[in-house]
Amino acid sequence: MATSADIVTDLAHQVCLSPDCGSTFDVGEVHTACPKCGSLLDIAYDWERSQVPDSLRWFEKKWSRRNEPLCRSGVWRFSELLPFAPPEKIVTIGEGQTPLIATDGVAKYVGTNPGTLFLEYEGMNPSGSFKDNGMTAAFTHAHMIGAKRAACASTGNTSASLALYCCSSKLMQAVIFIGSGKISYGKLSQALDYGALTIQIAGDFDDAMHRVQQVSKELGIYLVNSVNPFRLEGQKTIMYRVLESLDWQVPDWIVVPGGNLGNSSAFGKAFHELHSLGLIDRIPRLAVINAAGANTLNSLYNSHNLRWNGGRPDQSIINKYYAGLDAASSKADTIASAIEINRPVNLTKCLRALEWCDGVVREVTDQQMLDAKAQVGANGLGCEPASAASVAGAKLLREEGVIAPSDRVVCILTGHQLKDPTATVAYHTTDQEEFNRVLGKRGVSRAAFANRAVKVENDLDEIVRAIQLNS
Ligand code: F0G
Repeated sequence: MATSADIVTDLAHQVCLSPDCGSTFDVGEVHTACPKCGSLLDIAYDWERSQVPDSLRWFEKKWSRRNEPLCRSGVWRFSELLPFAPPEKIVTIGEGQTPLIATDGVAKYVGTNPGTLFLEYEGMNPSGSFKDNGMTAAFTHAHMIGAKRAACASTGNTSASLALYCCSSKLMQAVIFIGSGKISYGKLSQALDYGALTIQIAGDFDDAMHRVQQVSKELGIYLVNSVNPFRLEGQKTIMYRVLESLDWQVPDWIVVPGGNLGNSSAFGKAFHELHSLGLIDRIPRLAVINAAGANTLNSLYNSHNLRWNGGRPDQSIINKYYAGLDAASSKADTIASAIEINRPVNLTKCLRALEWCDGVVREVTDQQMLDAKAQVGANGLGCEPASAASVAGAKLLREEGVIAPSDRVVCILTGHQLKDPTATVAYHTTDQEEFNRVLGKRGVSRAAFANRAVKVENDLDEIVRAIQLNS
């Protein structure tokens, strides 16, 4: 597609993931798959010529310059580890100011020792999810090549993020594809408020993803889904901030929800690069947690033994699996709408991350996710249902003995609590009909940690009595 002559960085190039192809492309080219063989693309760097510091502690210097937008950004203050963009082209809205918080109440729930369970609160990003880490990178690349329109298919967070970058920078128009009835109101309201052209198609996320790829090719619109390799460069920085918050010590586990598998892919690349550069001396283990109603990775990895296999995963296993889904007209189905995805676009990259990080894959039910979510909320944070897959997954792995009580575990809270109030209110409701309508049909039968509103007459004595009874 488009190329641009004014790209000054020559430290980065795009490279095909397949070892049998290995084609390379300039960063000025726009591809969402290798034009030669169709595999995913990676961004690779000439680390010899780039200015990588010899210690991660070097990045602390940037804190004293946080009046400068590129030092304040939690993504771009690590720009030496993703040097693909000339500084004057970088588009930042202050993403990545996200805390890592040790939460003993959640540690107790998960079953690890006090002081060992950390929540990385990505909901604190400007659009309320981790997507801003990747969007600032993809958007910067789109700006580098002079794009005027950018598109994505989304379960809601990518679209909210794209819409926000478009309307705050005024550099591009956002075109978003969503499945009808598949997006929570919090997320839809963001896209509408931020002025995105919103295309609601009769279908689910997998259908929307398929269509947006066709349409962006046909109309030459820049695609920001995580098939875009620049997106994942930004998402690497979530791991840099985790290390930074742990005073640059490597935790034992990173636990992350798995949807399109962009995060897990990016995290694996982050740690692999840091290790190769001698900036960390070991790599944490990675746990990717699917929703049971959208469990392609878990099925392929654990039941069909699909592995990275040196870059040659057995494609016939994947094809057969998808043919089976089609034959059964099987659609993803979970309350965690953010990860309601059956055809994860970054599957092979995630397999590579699992290999690099000695990873494991699990699935958790909607019940497990909602209980975990309630625990996250009750302990002072808050997340949407998909994010709680990380905490529910950590609990499961602890019960299995895969995670030890003394392990230091970081769960990624990918999206803010306010993204999906319907799920939260239904969990805590006293209205059995509402509970059944929203959750019952998903196999959720109880709300062990519900905080039910107390209903009283509009009468002072009644209200006082209710408070005394309940406090
Ligand atoms: N958590 C949240 C809150 C998400 O919005 C998503 C993905 C994921 C987890 C899964 O992350 O794809 O990197 O494995 N949401 C996408 C969207 C699909 O369109 O907003 P992943």
